[in-house]
Amino acid sequence: MATCPIIQEREGEWTSNEMIEVLSFRIPAFFLSGSESPQVLCDFITNFQTKPDDVFIVSYPKSGTTWVQEIVWQIYHNGEISKKVLGDRVLFIEKALLPESTHLDITTMPSPRLFKSHLPYDAIPKGTDDAKTPCKYIYVARNPKDAAVSSYKFMASFGTNGMNAPWEFYAKLFIEGKTVYNKWNDHVLSWWKHRHDPNVLFLKYEDLKKDLQSNVRIISEFLNKSLSEEVINLITEQCTFKGMMKNVQSFLLGGKVEGPKFLRKGMVGNWKEHFTPELDERFEKEVLEKLKGSGLEFDFEL
Ligand code: A3P
Repeated sequence: MATCPIIQEREGEWTSNEMIEVLSFRIPAFFLSGSESPQVLCDFITNFQTKPDDVFIVSYPKSGTTWVQEIVWQIYHNGEISKKVLGDRVLFIEKALLPESTHLDITTMPSPRLFKSHLPYDAIPKGTDDAKTPCKYIYVARNPKDAAVSSYKFMASFGTNGMNAPWEFYAKLFIEGKTVYNKWNDHVLSWWKHRHDPNVLFLKYEDLKKDLQSNVRIISEFLNKSLSEEVINLITEQCTFKGMMKNVQSFLLGGKVEGPKFLRKGMVGNWKEHFTPELDERFEKEVLEKLKGSGLEFDFEL
């Protein structure tokens, strides 16, 4: 465990998962192996030099990052399916200093380097020469009600991160921005403001659910990777929830069957099974009202 101040929210007997603060947002404490201080990770992220053909797949946690990573990987590999764990194919930048990540050496990774991140726009690595040679960022946003439930289920499935809180407590922390990566609305808006930048593609989880094929095409065009209709169709079929479940061992945390899983329900509207009318009212008022005037809207059921 990291030798730095651990943040853990408490209410009576209930505790949140253990977090640390890096660049003024919270990340899971286990993102540091114990030997590094948060400053080492801050410096690593701040000084990270991007290359023009790097691609970052970014989201607020539990918004479809795994899904888009797999689509992007298949786009670059013409619809091939890999048995390798996704984390060994796409490097999670905030976990890059963990010993388990060192086999993906950033300096020798083949181009294009694919990265996963949950960083807000201002903190994402851009490289000092960014204006001349910007890399690409694909951001995926998901309605916050489903993202919150998914996040709770994921955190609760660790069993070892200090969290023993029920959903009501976790939902309250989510609204207040006291979970990992702080407030959902600040995060999505930080990227939404850059949606028209030529090197940013802003996607929504719900749109992928509505029409995956069009989104596979949009992503491949954004990456300047021209694919035949046949390959687009193949990737679409292989990247449905059902398709990805056929290769589920690739989407387990650290490849461990008994650990947290990146594929759970894969639906829009699961929040309805977990929200009381009071909680729904709080989300509408304290999370969604913050989007007013931005033009950013979400589907909450399909
Ligand atoms: P649920 O927990 O609601 O099922 P992330 O990859 O950012 O951690 O997000 C995980 C969420 O994306 C999980 O949501 C997971 O089931 C969902 N997901 C992953 N692949 C998917 C796919 N092919 N289709 C739909 N949802 C998918």
